[in-house]
Amino acid sequence: MRHLLGIDGLSANDITSLLDEATRYAHPHDPLVTRGVLRGKTILNVFYESSTRTRTSFELAGKRLGADVVNIAASSSSVTKGETLLDTVKNLEAMGSDAIVLRHASSGAPHFVARHTRASIVNAGDGSHEHPTQALLDAFTIRQRLGKLDGLVVVICGDILHSRVARSNSLLLGALGSEVRLCGPRTMMPRDPTVLGPTVRVFDRFDDAIEGADVVMMLRIQNERLAGAVMATTREYARTFGLNERRLRLAKPEALVMHPGPINRGVELNNAVADGAHSVILEQVAAGVAVRCAVLARVMLQ
Ligand code: CP
Repeated sequence: MRHLLGIDGLSANDITSLLDEATRYAHPHDPLVTRGVLRGKTILNVFYESSTRTRTSFELAGKRLGADVVNIAASSSSVTKGETLLDTVKNLEAMGSDAIVLRHASSGAPHFVARHTRASIVNAGDGSHEHPTQALLDAFTIRQRLGKLDGLVVVICGDILHSRVARSNSLLLGALGSEVRLCGPRTMMPRDPTVLGPTVRVFDRFDDAIEGADVVMMLRIQNERLAGAVMATTREYARTFGLNERRLRLAKPEALVMHPGPINRGVELNNAVADGAHSVILEQVAAGVAVRCAVLARVMLQ
């Protein structure tokens, strides 16, 4: 695998082997980590959109494996002077880069760059399209907690239309045998939900979707991608599609509460649930480093 551009295009075997490999990287004293398998390699984190978790965990993952890691934020680069994405990448490549981790607001940007560079490209989120490493770390977290993905009922609730996390997770979970239930305002649901997988089910009422769920994955509204669309009030949204303790009791007793971050507290999640016993949100963040170690090693060593 030279690039990781999306979950779309990966087989169930590809996904499972990345998750298995991440398990080894979850132990910092594993010889794979201490041997520094990426020593002498250079990774560039090129972020055209803001990030806390993804950028930091890619940096930690690269450094744990012994690579040199350089972070480039578009907001403080020559992008602000009008340089194109391709010129930026070509210039970074000229300085020597083995892998470029790219976050961009345009869907398909990593695919475009991959056609024009010798470096391995890892998609760190492209517009509303895909966020493959988020889906991998979410699957890793679920598997660690519940021991499997096959046969689980996973509810994804929120702004499905604009969410790259929803798409990558639906594709991955469907491929590994989970039942994926999508829930959110009709205006935030794709016209054809099967683009998120042939077996996804759409629910209008959150109470119906969450009934008997093993995992409840909450998403924030992607205000930056709404382009002026009319929104329900925050209070109305929280009442209809927010996760609170009453609603969580409709899921299985051991259900996991997940969120990719950043959380808008009081909107899609209330504090008691976000910080409660069912929440594995910080476990997701921790899993991000191990999963990104596995992804970087896979694309750079094979
Ligand atoms: N989950 C996620 O992509 O978070 P960041 O935007 O902070 O990277």
